[in-house]
Amino acid sequence: MKVACLTSNLVFAASLIAGALANPLITREQALETVAKALAERATPQAPDGYTPEGVNCPSTRPSIRSAAQLSPEERSWLSQRRNNTVPAMRDLLGRLNITGFDVNSYMDRVSNNASALPNIAIAASGGGYRALMNGAGAVAAFDSRTSGSNGPGQIGGLLQSATYLAGLSGGGWLVGSLYVNNFTSVQSIIDASPDDSYNLWQFQNPIYQGPERTGIQLLDSAGYFTNIYQTVEGKEDAGFNVSITDYWGRALAFQLVNATEGGPAYTWSSIQTDPAFSQANAPMPILVADGRAPGEQLISSNSTVYEMNPWEIGSWDPTVFGFAPMRYVGSNFSGGALPANQDCISGFDNAGYVMGTSSSLFNQALLMLNTSSSDSGVLRDALTAVLSNIGEDSNDIADWSPNPFYHYNNDSNPNAASKRLTLVDGGEDLQNIPLYPVIQPERHVDVIFAIDSSADTVLPDGTTTGWPNGTSLVATYQRSLNPTIENGTAFPAVPDQNTFINLGLNHRPTFFGCDSSNQTGDHPLVVYLPNAPYVYNTNFSTFDPVYNISERNAAIMNGYDVATMGNGTVDSMWPTCVGCAILSRSLERTGTQVPDVCNMCFERYCWNGTIASELPNPPYNPSLILEDQAVDVTSGAAAGETFSKMAVVGMAAIAAAVLAA
Ligand SMILES: *[C@@H]1O[C@H](CO)[C@@H](O)[C@H](O)[C@H]1NC(C)=O
Ligand SMILES: *[C@@H]1O[C@H](CO)[C@@H](O)[C@H](O)[C@H]1NC(C)=O
Ligand SMILES: *[C@@H]1O[C@H](CO)[C@@H](O)[C@H](O)[C@H]1NC(C)=O
Ligand SMILES: *[C@@H]1O[C@H](CO)[C@@H](O)[C@H](O)[C@H]1NC(C)=O
Ligand SMILES: *[C@@H]1O[C@H](CO)[C@@H](O)[C@H](O)[C@H]1NC(C)=O
Ligand SMILES: *[C@@H]1O[C@H](CO)[C@@H](O)[C@H](O)[C@H]1NC(C)=O
Ligand SMILES: *[C@@H]1O[C@H](CO)[C@@H](O)[C@H](O)[C@H]1NC(C)=O
Ligand SMILES: *[C@@H]1O[C@H](CO)[C@@H](O)[C@H](O)[C@H]1NC(C)=O
Ligand SMILES: *[C@@H]1O[C@H](CO)[C@@H](O)[C@H](O)[C@H]1NC(C)=O
Ligand SMILES: *[C@@H]1O[C@H](CO)[C@@H](O)[C@H](O)[C@H]1NC(C)=O
Ligand SMILES: *[C@@H]1O[C@H](CO)[C@@H](O)[C@H](O)[C@H]1NC(C)=O
Ligand SMILES: *[C@@H]1O[C@H](CO)[C@@H](O)[C@H](O)[C@H]1NC(C)=O
Repeated sequence: MKVACLTSNLVFAASLIAGALANPLITREQALETVAKALAERATPQAPDGYTPEGVNCPSTRPSIRSAAQLSPEERSWLSQRRNNTVPAMRDLLGRLNITGFDVNSYMDRVSNNASALPNIAIAASGGGYRALMNGAGAVAAFDSRTSGSNGPGQIGGLLQSATYLAGLSGGGWLVGSLYVNNFTSVQSIIDASPDDSYNLWQFQNPIYQGPERTGIQLLDSAGYFTNIYQTVEGKEDAGFNVSITDYWGRALAFQLVNATEGGPAYTWSSIQTDPAFSQANAPMPILVADGRAPGEQLISSNSTVYEMNPWEIGSWDPTVFGFAPMRYVGSNFSGGALPANQDCISGFDNAGYVMGTSSSLFNQALLMLNTSSSDSGVLRDALTAVLSNIGEDSNDIADWSPNPFYHYNNDSNPNAASKRLTLVDGGEDLQNIPLYPVIQPERHVDVIFAIDSSADTVLPDGTTTGWPNGTSLVATYQRSLNPTIENGTAFPAVPDQNTFINLGLNHRPTFFGCDSSNQTGDHPLVVYLPNAPYVYNTNFSTFDPVYNISERNAAIMNGYDVATMGNGTVDSMWPTCVGCAILSRSLERTGTQVPDVCNMCFERYCWNGTIASELPNPPYNPSLILEDQAVDVTSGAAAGETFSKMAVVGMAAIAAAVLAA
């Protein structure tokens, strides 16, 4: 059946090629393009046997591991198109941002045929569960010219279309993954859809522990849903692969994030390669992040090996692993950087839900939070502890990517080279909760990073978390960039300690870091820090809050929109202009162009100037709505937070039980 399917696809492709070539009026290129298009539309479920990885014919050049000394050839060739494609979007955006005294068109004319002069923009969406997905979604909607109203005065729509990279981590990875796995859909299309449209994205009122409603394209009741998750993962295990809780978790997540029947068990991450928007370089390059951690090992935040997962590859720039494996063929038995002649090419391992689940291997995070939170979660803690102790305490958060593609690769530096097993965990576990890692790699030459921080850092003196960011993630990335054994050429702007973030309000409004490029050695990007703050809705939900009704979801997304636009410029009418100045800053410098006065005003207003105020914040940070008069009225459903303990026990226990049964 699977073979037949694959074959029929090939026959279909062959017939298209033959048909197209037989037509003398079209060129070979056009014919191939037709085929690519036809296949692209059916490309996403590319795995040969649903969730179960399976042997396929190897390509004529056998897959291998490459050194991280350069960008991949695929990325380089994609970039040559992408950088060009950002030009019209950037011209349009900058033209709308009212940069007084600056002739956008003549500047863009000057730099548009020279990629090293053109601004190179990245966006990074942090982790933090559904809170991060929703807050990040609001910001991405504000950046997306497809959002209605995003191109008006006070608006910054078009930034997404101008960007080269879009990185996501954990909950931010669900956001990024949702867009790319679903044909680069928009946040607006997702929230505008009515649940009656057999639409199943972001239906957070149907929590993971229950599954989708029995309408729409999923057509499963709770029992069917759990059975389906269980059986797909069992298929992978029966085929000889080690499965971990992340397999169940990723499959469950996919029901909310992949718009296909049964969460699209055959949808692979590498299939984004053939997605039309991405392959034609009309969308930025999506990258998710995870950390390497062996079972039982303690993650040291300043020197852990960090992995990125992009549509072509998984691997690490760190001087430890320093290599990349082809995403499409992970699961194959690589050894010493090659795939031995007697080994099959395995495909289908890189299930899209599994990749998103790996970046968000949330169970351990749940445990970490429960261990440090004060009181009300005793029952849950006990239940999880009991269930997970059966599975193996040291493996509860692990995503098993065995067989290790980097087995015997870089033996001298790779601490995991002798292991057949590669285990990854949530990218936020090393405290670098914003996925800055892929976009500060020197090979990528990023000029400016829009860093959306939806972390829940802040705590009151009595230990209660209040759920807002306090700069912890930037501090972690900055410190790592100073560690000579691991930084490997990455440079990051100086940032202050967390108390200073709070005392100076740097976690309450956008702040630029690294404005003065000469202050530090090494090319470092300018970082536009966009901390989650309450404009029209209090979006400091618990990271592990599993259920939101549609009205709460939309209010949170609206608040994220206001975070990125500063309330559509109503809090500061200069803000949109300052976004433009941040985009241009490094490019102006490289081209020796004078900085417009209005930009100097922006930098004075938004750049952190090196001031430190490290005393304990007093009073502690506990903000009220910035736009009180425009507070969004939310029809309350299952109130977020309150019902958490009870429901999460049910859900996590159900999935854990399935694991035990396996
Ligand atoms: C993907 O999106 C593009 C652009 O919106 C659209 O033209 C195309 O029909 C979509 N493809 C599928 C298979 O939905
Ligand atoms: C553009 O910015 C200038 C200040 O540089 C300001 O006086 C003017 O009102 C702004 N125009 C719009 C349309 O916002
Ligand atoms: C990008 O633009 C430059 C200059 O306009 C042009 O020379 C180059 O061929 C373009 N690259 C691609 C891949 O279209
Ligand atoms: C989701 O799938 C439905 C049914 O196939 C389709 O109508 C809708 O456009 C899809 N949505 C996205 C965002 O791809
Ligand atoms: C990371 O630091 C710890 C503690 O200093 C050390 O034991 C470990 O070997 C280091 N790992 C790497 C990869 O440098
Ligand atoms: C990064 O690490 C690799 C492998 O250790 C090394 O060859 C390379 O020179 C390093 N790059 C920089 C910029 O230090
Ligand atoms: C599965 O994990 C075990 C350790 O629990 C390891 O010994 C074994 O090699 C792994 N199997 C595969 C196929 O990677
Ligand atoms: C900042 O966040 C970290 C956790 O990320 C927390 O340990 C620390 O107490 C916080 N500091 C303040 C003042 O909120
Ligand atoms: C900002 O603009 C968006 C889109 O036009 C609108 O929906 C929203 O209500 C506005 N928010 C504020 C605070 O003005
Ligand atoms: C491209 O821009 C860079 C940076 O401004 C400059 O050094 C280089 O000379 C330019 N190349 C061309 C061909 O203009
Ligand atoms: C630096 O910023 C602080 C507030 O963050 C301000 O009080 C101080 O005057 C500024 N210093 C300079 C030299 O601009
Ligand atoms: C300039 O660099 C120094 C040394 O890295 C750092 O301590 C300081 O905070 C930086 N200043 C700014 C404004 O980034």
